[in-house]
Amino acid sequence: MIELLISHLRTAESVAVLTGAGVSAESGIPTFRDAQTGLWARYDPHELATPEAFRRNPRLVWEWYAYRRGLVAAAAPNPAHLALAALERRTPDFTLITQNVDGLHRRAGSQNVVELHGNITRTKCFDEDVVVERWPATGDVPPCCPSCGGPLRPDVVWFGETLPAAAWNAATAAARRCQVFLCVGTSGVVQPAADLPFLARRSGAYVAEINLAPGALHDQLDAQLYGPAGEILPRILAALETIGE
Ligand code: OAD
Repeated sequence: MIELLISHLRTAESVAVLTGAGVSAESGIPTFRDAQTGLWARYDPHELATPEAFRRNPRLVWEWYAYRRGLVAAAAPNPAHLALAALERRTPDFTLITQNVDGLHRRAGSQNVVELHGNITRTKCFDEDVVVERWPATGDVPPCCPSCGGPLRPDVVWFGETLPAAAWNAATAAARRCQVFLCVGTSGVVQPAADLPFLARRSGAYVAEINLAPGALHDQLDAQLYGPAGEILPRILAALETIGE
């Protein structure tokens, strides 16, 4: 199965990849839905990742994201991120679509990154929805918007919110035009991102999943490779770089 994927990748002019929390697991960042270790096994998303939760308890939500920002700052890209950056360098048209908010793909050297769920290192005004880079050090938690005085929040997509339109348009366009579409480390249960592999498949792409274990997508795609992304992706890259060139 890996050989067939490699042969498709070798000839593909256009490749799109959808990543989820599993791609960052080997960097020490917890996923959402893995039993025991997943964030949603330990925390309730309705208390932490919705606009209503923020309105109810802005301090709790801000502090939870501050904790996660700390994890991200202490983490480094792993071999899966690095292999995807290398795959981009050898593919004429490559789009890396990620549900992750940790920014590790860019830190690994990926260039054409579409962040569907925002970025945890950015902050925006809750009321005005504009990105804010600096704010007065008043000691308020969350800090206050320098323009309107309202509360600041992380620039991520919460449950019940729509995805940034430009990111979604770029993701669907990439899914439609690619010849190979990879799903890496995602449970494939969160919409609308979970539709992208099917959009790619309907548009003629060869669609493969790389995951630790079979998930929601597993019987609907062309190929499944099970194991840690940090092992499988470097193997694919090494094969591409050695065989048949
Ligand atoms: P999930 O936690 O739902 O799924 C992570 C997937 O990664 C699972 O299928 C695991 O089996 C797999 N996995 C874990 N470690 C892996 C490894 N080393 N190599 C390969 N696969 C591995 O995370 P997402 O699918 O990213 O949204 O979740 C989607 C969205 O749900 C997130 O973006 C977040 C969350 O609620 C928002 O916050 C809006």
